[in-house]
Amino acid sequence: MSEGNLLYKGKAKSVFAADDSNVLSVVFRDDITALDGLKKNTFEGKGACNAKVTAYFYPILEKNGVPTHFIKSVNETTQLVRKLKMIPLEVVVRNRAAGSLVRNYGFTEGQYLEKPIIVMDLKDDSRHDPMINDDIILALKFVTETELAEIKRLALLVNKILKENLAEKNIDLIDMKLEFGKDNEGLIRLGDEISMDSLRLWDKGEICASMDKDIYRKDKGDVMEVYRKTVERIVN
Ligand SMILES: Nc1ncnc2c1ncn2[C@@H]1O[C@H](COP(=O)(O)OP(=O)(O)OP(=O)(O)O)[C@@H](O)[C@H]1O
Ligand SMILES: [Mg+2]
Repeated sequence: MSEGNLLYKGKAKSVFAADDSNVLSVVFRDDITALDGLKKNTFEGKGACNAKVTAYFYPILEKNGVPTHFIKSVNETTQLVRKLKMIPLEVVVRNRAAGSLVRNYGFTEGQYLEKPIIVMDLKDDSRHDPMINDDIILALKFVTETELAEIKRLALLVNKILKENLAEKNIDLIDMKLEFGKDNEGLIRLGDEISMDSLRLWDKGEICASMDKDIYRKDKGDVMEVYRKTVERIVN
């Protein structure tokens, strides 16, 4: 299947048309950004690292009852996916307190949460991805009440599956950002990616022993050295 026209260039991935109009070709680039794109760099091999982790987790999620967009990997940075009508929500699932939960609400860094917390942000860089609640989501008619409940059910299922998988590798899943869309039959599917850009991962038992994009956000060391080590820990 050949790569067609460039349809969309995001901050870290490029989306191309494919021969089949229900399929897209997604290229994971070596670009990395933070602070809504204000901070940006390019690290050789970064795209392949994120693509590898995405290609590892999506088939596992599919096998465990999570419909996803993932079809197959074409090469180390390109994946074929089902074209989805993306729902402009960043669905954040938190198991322990970090990031804005500490900054905005006074939780202690690393504090265990009695049960996973779901936070929804509007996916809109120009508005700095503001937090959004159910009533606003329904008023904006992004999804129906039933679809919103399904998104939350799937997000918690993804969290459970990833948390258990990573715990076996002595990695703590602190929080993660997911994106969902609707396929051409209206089914809600997990889209986008699961990688060091969308996961917050700490080496088990340590506070803030980041194994993800926080290394870049907070200038805490060699990003690619950490990304490569994390890929090894996760996929092997
Ligand atoms: N299966 C899919 N069908 C259609 N669009 C998709 C699918 N999966 C992901 N996308 C969209 O493709 C784009 C991927 O590019 P990238 O991740 O670089 O995005 P972005 O919009 O810059 O935003 P962010 O980096 O905040 O996600 C995103 O806008 C994402 O919502
Ligand atoms: Mg993205």
